[in-house]
Amino acid sequence: MDKEIDAAKDRAKRMQWWHEARFGMFVHWGLYSQLGRHEWVMNRERIPVAEYERLAATWKPKPQPAREWARLAKQAGMKYMVMTTKHHEGFCLWDTKMTDYNAVKCGPGRDLVAEYVEACREFGLRIGFYYSLMDWHHPDGARCAKDEKSRRRFLDFTQGLVRELMTNYGKIDVLWYDVSWPLSSPALWESGKMNAMARQLQPHVIINNRSQLDEDFGTPEEHINPEQAGRPWEACMTFNGSWGWQPTPPEDWHSVRSVLGMLRQCTAEGGNLLLNIGPHPDGSVPQEAVDRLKAVGKWTNANGEAIYGKADRLAGRFEWMPSGQFTIKGKTAYYWCTRWPGTELALGGIKGKLRAASLLADGRPVSFVQEKDRLILKGLPKNAPDKVAGVTVLKLEFATTPRQVLGAGCVVLK
Ligand code: GLC
Repeated sequence: MDKEIDAAKDRAKRMQWWHEARFGMFVHWGLYSQLGRHEWVMNRERIPVAEYERLAATWKPKPQPAREWARLAKQAGMKYMVMTTKHHEGFCLWDTKMTDYNAVKCGPGRDLVAEYVEACREFGLRIGFYYSLMDWHHPDGARCAKDEKSRRRFLDFTQGLVRELMTNYGKIDVLWYDVSWPLSSPALWESGKMNAMARQLQPHVIINNRSQLDEDFGTPEEHINPEQAGRPWEACMTFNGSWGWQPTPPEDWHSVRSVLGMLRQCTAEGGNLLLNIGPHPDGSVPQEAVDRLKAVGKWTNANGEAIYGKADRLAGRFEWMPSGQFTIKGKTAYYWCTRWPGTELALGGIKGKLRAASLLADGRPVSFVQEKDRLILKGLPKNAPDKVAGVTVLKLEFATTPRQVLGAGCVVLK
């Protein structure tokens, strides 16, 4: 029991930065980027291994694109990054000794993981490694499910790769496994042993739940799922419906407002947002993502207080409103107003005495009255003050932890 408590304390301590960071950048980049037809192209189009392998020779990224990603992540207000070191295609982006199918021996002729790590450090971002357990290139990648010798070889290969990643690049903050096909249990994957090795090499590393063990955090994908049974979680989201680079009409990219909406929801429910970019084959970031992330950055720069740090879970404490939604930290509620009402804003059902109200971005005080459970904010600017995305945050500081109770009727609730 004591051991369990210690382990839980240990985990909470290790994960503190991650909870406070809230917002990270996912990067999907590999041979598939050259085809521009989604990172599952090899599987979806049944491209034979020998044909796909030729992409390794033709991949010629420009120098140091990771610096562009890291600069952009920093500008956007993201605090960490997770890059695909090896996706399902099996091509390793680093200088591995385990296979020649890697970025140093083939086309790029350089260690792209090393460049990425360096860029993260330069811009002060935490470093995550995505690693796909499923491997479409390795001869044992599928066979391992049927043949014991093949499984042994594949596990040795897998553990060798993870060992390199956890050994060769200094401190790594997140190990982000993906797809554990085709082995059907953590025992068959030897996940416990593999993750113990990772932790021995990187005592602070945070590990996701995709090696068939829960480990540190859950990974809802393409949806924001607050119901993670009290466990830490991170929603990973594409920007445009594809993880790998794929041309996409402008209207299919998340708008700045939509990204801010996701950030609010994750914050309100105590989770993180890992938002993906799929760089072009040369490593440059699609302009649609650059433009939107820069705008997101302008906004987070002014309104970060409503996002970062340990937020309280909103669940059941506030109601939906037609003009916006809340996040909350202790006694302070942040109302993210997405449909500006003009000079007055009324919030019904508010329980708790308000001490001060202000516009978060510039600190301008806002006057207010509280009539029973009705809070009316007065003398607001006529038009939405937030010029980035029309998402204005009102900071409401209460004397006690606030709540909102409306129900469906129009009787004033005591
Ligand atoms: C899925 C996909 C994969 C992507 C990942 C990101 O598992 O197979 O292509 O990298 O999600 O979460």
